Amino acid sequence: MKNLLITGGAGFIGSNFVRMMLEKYPDYHLTVYDKLTYAGNLDNLLDVQDNPRYRFVHGDIGDAALVEETLREHNIDTIVNFAAETHVDRSIQEPGSFIQTDVYGTYVLLEATRKLGLERMLQVSTDEVYGSVPEGSSTERDNYDPRSPYSASKAGGELMCRAYFETFHTPVVITRGSNNYGPYQYPEKLIPLFITNLLDGKPVPVYGDGMNVRDWIYVLDHCSGIDAVLHQGVLGEAYNVGGGNEKPNIEITKLLLELTGRGPDMITYVADRPGHDRRYSLDTSKLRALGWAPGHSFEESMRATVDWYRDNRWWWEKIKSGEYSEYYHKQYGQREVLSRP
Ligand code: NAD
Ligand code: TYD
Repeated sequence: MKNLLITGGAGFIGSNFVRMMLEKYPDYHLTVYDKLTYAGNLDNLLDVQDNPRYRFVHGDIGDAALVEETLREHNIDTIVNFAAETHVDRSIQEPGSFIQTDVYGTYVLLEATRKLGLERMLQVSTDEVYGSVPEGSSTERDNYDPRSPYSASKAGGELMCRAYFETFHTPVVITRGSNNYGPYQYPEKLIPLFITNLLDGKPVPVYGDGMNVRDWIYVLDHCSGIDAVLHQGVLGEAYNVGGGNEKPNIEITKLLLELTGRGPDMITYVADRPGHDRRYSLDTSKLRALGWAPGHSFEESMRATVDWYRDNRWWWEKIKSGEYSEYYHKQYGQREVLSRP
């Protein structure tokens, strides 16, 4: 492994992964291949743009000809696929692009991996493929039970990976990460949305009763989990990557109020997301058996994350003043307000 294609590398997790890998492996060359959708942003990679072991190619993973040309031109031996449409609320409004990128795009990468005889492809997937988990924790042997267009399309991508492994012995491994937080996360997701709203003195919209539970992982812990599976994961297998920090949304909200110095009057309860998964929970013993463990404490990383958004207004103010304001209005403008505390 020497020349890696990082698809979706201009997004939140992909850009953090690129930075980590360039530092950790001084002999690796990384080519980011990204469509630069609303979520892709070259500002996320500003600090590596002059690194001679980094290159950027503007492209869609659904474009088989450009994928193949890029793989050949840069002598790629390994693909790590972060490219996806990723936001559940957008998948409820417009599911088509999710199927196109998360299922069809994954197929294109698998086909290219097979055709060119690459060493390995890692598919970055999500704990959401298990669906809502009322009790206990999901293990990699559990069935898929996706319930949103986003999670169904991610499950579809995984199923193509399994089909390619079983049918063609394509060398693929899968990771299933839990909810990430950290620098460079697009401010449509819970944590960066709430931090940036609170920094601006604006209210935060909590869906339903605020008691939906997510397992939060600091983005660099997710990246180190992906790295562990990339180098040590058994081909054809999937690995859960969870932070072990299960919290209801209202608890996250209260922590963010505290870290930004705002009061409970900022909370607005709004109409719930349709089909809102109640809880995710991951059993991570399979990945821990490879020697991985999350290295960042929840409290310290949440504080560091709030500090990062406070110190990097240049990054998110640009985003929030663009296409985003139309999205925000569509998403929240007509949402019924249930109550204020
Ligand atoms: P993101 O939305 O921040 O970034 C996605 C990136 O993919 C963007 O740079 C975008 O431009 C690019 N992209 C989208 N469609 C593309 C296409 N057709 N061709 C090429 N590039 C395309 O997403 P993220 O939060 O960084 O998530 C990355 C991956 O991790 C996704 O596969 C997601 O399903 C998975 N994941 C995310 C989380 C999370 O909490 N954010 C948790 C578990 C798994
Ligand atoms: P999100 O960050 O969209 O991630 P996912 O839905 O993929 O888990 O949402 C995390 C949780 O926060 C989820 O239970 C929905 C909830 N949420 C809100 O309460 N208000 C919001 O404005 C957003 C974006 C999310």
